[in-house]
Amino acid sequence: MMLHVPDVLSAEQVRELRATLDATDWVDGRETVGEQGARIKRNRQLPEQSAVGHELGKTILGALAMNPLFFSAALPLRFVPPLFNRYEGGEHYGLHVDGSVRSVPGTGQQLRTDLSCTLFLCDPEDYQGGELEVVDTYGVHEVKLPAGDLILYPSSSLHRVHPVTQGARVCSFFWLQSMVRDDRQRAMLFELDQNILKLRARLGECEEAIALTGHYHNLLRMWSEV
Ligand code: NI
Repeated sequence: MMLHVPDVLSAEQVRELRATLDATDWVDGRETVGEQGARIKRNRQLPEQSAVGHELGKTILGALAMNPLFFSAALPLRFVPPLFNRYEGGEHYGLHVDGSVRSVPGTGQQLRTDLSCTLFLCDPEDYQGGELEVVDTYGVHEVKLPAGDLILYPSSSLHRVHPVTQGARVCSFFWLQSMVRDDRQRAMLFELDQNILKLRARLGECEEAIALTGHYHNLLRMWSEV
């Protein structure tokens, strides 16, 4: 399931992040991928060990922790701390699938990448090209979101970033392991949760909403690995 999560960061938060990022040194994005990735990846990134990146990443994860739509869709168990990339002057990233297991720096922990996230830190008018293209069973989706918005998509999807032909595309990207491994089960829980919310909004608290909430939690108990 792909999901657009709007307004993860406020305009003010985006401005602050960008001011810091634009004043920071970037490195060749090929540093963080294997040999196959290095052949198709042309961009710049903040180094994985960057103290600035760590601080900005905390702001992003803090904002996500308070975002009920994101939580409902992702059911996050643990994250790889957010990284940051920048594409300009024709830079791009060819068709690829993200690595299935990543280590979480400084923890000795490994994480299965169930979901990939791209958080846009620039507006669509700031650059030409640079669409994130995600291929799934329903076809090809091109994504270009307002600053502060996030796209969530299964890490199993093939995807690419089209060349940025004008301006600069600046984003944060990261992965998470979900409490629910299976994308279909997670999508069912998301739909159930969202419909319970709508039912409550329409009818207020009622026996049916309570019963369905019980059903939601019992399914989550059955399917989650924590
Ligand atoms: Ni990728």
